[in-house]
Amino acid sequence: MKLKYSILISFICAFVFGQNNHFAPGKEWKDTDGVHINAHGGGIIFMDGTYYWYGEFKTEGKGGNTALKGVSCYSSKDLYNWKNEGIVLKVEEDRNSEITKGCIMERPKVVFNKKTGKCVMWFHLELKGQGYDAAMAGVAISDSPKGPFTYIKSYRPNKGVWPIDFKEEFKSASANTQNLKSWTPDWLTAIQNGMLVRRDFQKGQMSRDMTVYVDDNEKAYLIHSSEDNLTLHISELTDDYLDFTQKWTRVAPAGHNEAPAIFKKDGMYYMITSGCTGWDPNEARSFKSESIWGPWESLGNPSFGKDAELTFHSQSTYIFQVQGKKDQFIFMADRWKPDNPIEGSYVWLPIIIENEKPILKWSDEWTLDDFNQKK
Ligand code: DGJ
Repeated sequence: MKLKYSILISFICAFVFGQNNHFAPGKEWKDTDGVHINAHGGGIIFMDGTYYWYGEFKTEGKGGNTALKGVSCYSSKDLYNWKNEGIVLKVEEDRNSEITKGCIMERPKVVFNKKTGKCVMWFHLELKGQGYDAAMAGVAISDSPKGPFTYIKSYRPNKGVWPIDFKEEFKSASANTQNLKSWTPDWLTAIQNGMLVRRDFQKGQMSRDMTVYVDDNEKAYLIHSSEDNLTLHISELTDDYLDFTQKWTRVAPAGHNEAPAIFKKDGMYYMITSGCTGWDPNEARSFKSESIWGPWESLGNPSFGKDAELTFHSQSTYIFQVQGKKDQFIFMADRWKPDNPIEGSYVWLPIIIENEKPILKWSDEWTLDDFNQKK
């Protein structure tokens, strides 16, 4: 009854004041100018009383998944109503720039570095005209959450360094793994045993779908799909968040995970990921670990109910905590529209934790008050 009342109030406010007062996953989400929010594969930070949402600025038509403008930013005080702050990291006209117009810039995530006082943005960078082969992580910096961000450089992380827990025998496994047929049990075992880590050892490890996580002790990590998207890597960042310490580990080798999103509750780390089916949705996966360095225990599909096997037609991008609310975490996901990327919508759902397992349930409409009612 209380729930229906709050939804009714939301509708009245929306109608009278043109304001959003609830989340409507998968629907058009208008910013304060009345335009559908354009911040895909996004992430959120909270600074000085304001939330900032960064994401891929998509354009119309089939080419709209390439970066023709850059990374957009929106600000909000209440998480429902978002003001467009414009493009905060712009693609460059210079054809020799790594972030030249037409490159691929995906899944931007911004974190604040308390030591340097800078906002640092990491994103998945693919060089123009090279499809997804470059598989790099780009980094940019700004004095303000509203930008402008200045592009610094790109990385293939962990060049010439083995993961912390890599078995000695994996470092020099015999070359006879090279010609294994893909997806056979032997091939999967070879991947688990580091075949692709060895392949990319000199060049640096691949970094495609990614997120950044800042821990309670201010250590930050890039969590990235690597090894041809077969294995997730967790790579520790330096204290300024601009480089890698070269300490890294692998998660779910040969598990084929993309779209990592991570949070920590009561000392336990949780991760939600997707499988790999391009722009099409698939069944999400979840993991938990007592340490960022693992071991990560697989917990299966976190979604329940209708379309749970397709993550409610969406793919994870980020998980954030409602400011000041210890137990309130929001799952952010994208409903991609590859034929007209600008139309892509957003699926935000509250995360319920039951018996150390994250749970996602569909809601046509919900408000932050629903967190209290779930207790
Ligand atoms: C799935 C990834 O999660 C997206 O970010 C994007 O890279 C698409 N694949 C491209 O097909």
